[in-house]
Parts: sequence; structure tokens; C-alpha cells
Amino acid sequence: MAGILFPAQDKYLKQFKKEDDPLIAEMEQYAKEHKVPILSRQAADFLEQIVLLINPRRVLEIGAAIAYSTIRIAKILKKKSVIHSIEMSEDNAAIARENIEKAGLGNKIDLKIGNALTIMPQLQKKYDLIFLDADKEDYKRLFDYSMILLKSGGVIFIDNLLWHGFAAARKIPGEYRISTKYIREFNTVFMNQPNLIATILPIGDGIGLGVKR
Ligand SMILES: C[S@@+](CC[C@H](N)C(=O)[O-])C[C@H]1O[C@@H](n2cnc3c(N)ncnc32)[C@H](O)[C@@H]1O
Repeated sequence: MAGILFPAQDKYLKQFKKEDDPLIAEMEQYAKEHKVPILSRQAADFLEQIVLLINPRRVLEIGAAIAYSTIRIAKILKKKSVIHSIEMSEDNAAIARENIEKAGLGNKIDLKIGNALTIMPQLQKKYDLIFLDADKEDYKRLFDYSMILLKSGGVIFIDNLLWHGFAAARKIPGEYRISTKYIREFNTVFMNQPNLIATILPIGDGIGLGVKR
């Protein structure tokens, strides 16, 4: 199982959009060649729609990787808005920095290098939008910090909640058993969070979308 849709539906949905920004296309190619997991194009389009709809002043991203999603968000943020993005891999962060420079978006993006579990408790000001896309075993704790840092009325956007289809599958290959367990436990917490209106949408690898009451 490689995705959450049947292959024909997946192919059908992917045919519509060609990427015309050369840097975005280059990052997609880099991610494919170097096996860096980034948001699917459909999930990234959906995230951009959310950004346009809510017009956030302050965005927090947990898991920048090579800054693909960071740049896609920053490109459409309004003039005074900013994105803070946390990345713990020095190697990924070095490539992220290069890409941010190439995009000319250094004034909008504050890349913080380190473990979000250490950095988030030090953050004081709240955010209008939080995008969680880090290691699955840490989702629960990162989500708890996110709920503290999310403004009332703010939106949380979380990737991989259908986890290649395994979240809802009966047979899970050995290498996915532990991660699937983490995702399933997390989904129960996410969908039952009292101060959040939450849904999981079958876009990309499964997007959790929550609005804080
Ligand atoms: C799925 S990738 C992020 C992809 C990126 N959001 C995109 O769509 O372009 C996950 C990244 O999160 C980073 N990461 C995982 N756990 C983290 C943590 N606790 N703190 C900071 N970064 C973390 C990993 O090093 C990896 O680069």
C-alpha cells in the first residue's frame, strides 16, 4: 500500500496541475531523488488555500525538511506576516537555508534549528496557524505544545494522519507497525480534543484539520 487512494484516482487527480515555479519544481525533484518526505502537491495546494482563507499573521511549522512547504506558505503570506519553522536535522536545515535564500524569502521565514520538543516550550507568542509535520512518535507531545501555542480561532494542519493507508488497514507490514500504532493513538487524541473542531481529510497522506474554539 503506497497511498490512501486507489492508483487510478490518484493518477486522475495528479494530472491537472503542472508546477510552473522553477524553484518549487526543483525542490519536488530533489525530494523525490533524495527520498525526503515532503507534502504531496495536493496537500500543499490545500495548505495554501487555508493560508489564503485565514490570512494568518503568525505561522508555526514543525518540520521544515528542505523548506518546500515553508516556501509555499511564505510565498503567499501577506506583507507583515511571518512563518517560524523548526527543523532538527542540520543536513536538511542547510538545504532549507539555501532554498529560502534562492526564493528571496529570508525576511518572512525564521528557520529555527533544533528539536521542536525543546524549542516549543520556549516560545511565548501565540500563532494563527500551526503546521505539524514531524516524527510520528512525537506527534502527541508536539500537538500538546501546539494547542498551548495556538490562538483561539486558530487552525492546526497536520500531515500523514492516514499514514499511507495503514491507519485504517487490517494488515500492516512489519516496518510500519510501530509508526501506525503512534498514528492511530494520535488520531484518537486529535479527534477527541475538547477545545478543537477536528476532521481528517483524505488529501495527500491524510490531513488533520482542526480549529481551536
Ligand atoms: C516530513 S518532513 C517535513 C516536510 C515539510 N514540512 C514539507 O512538506 O516540505 C519532517 C521533518 O521534520 C523534522 N523533524 C522530525 N521531528 C522533529 C522535531 N521533534 N523537531 C524538529 N524537527 C523535526 C525531520 O528532520 C524532517 O526534516
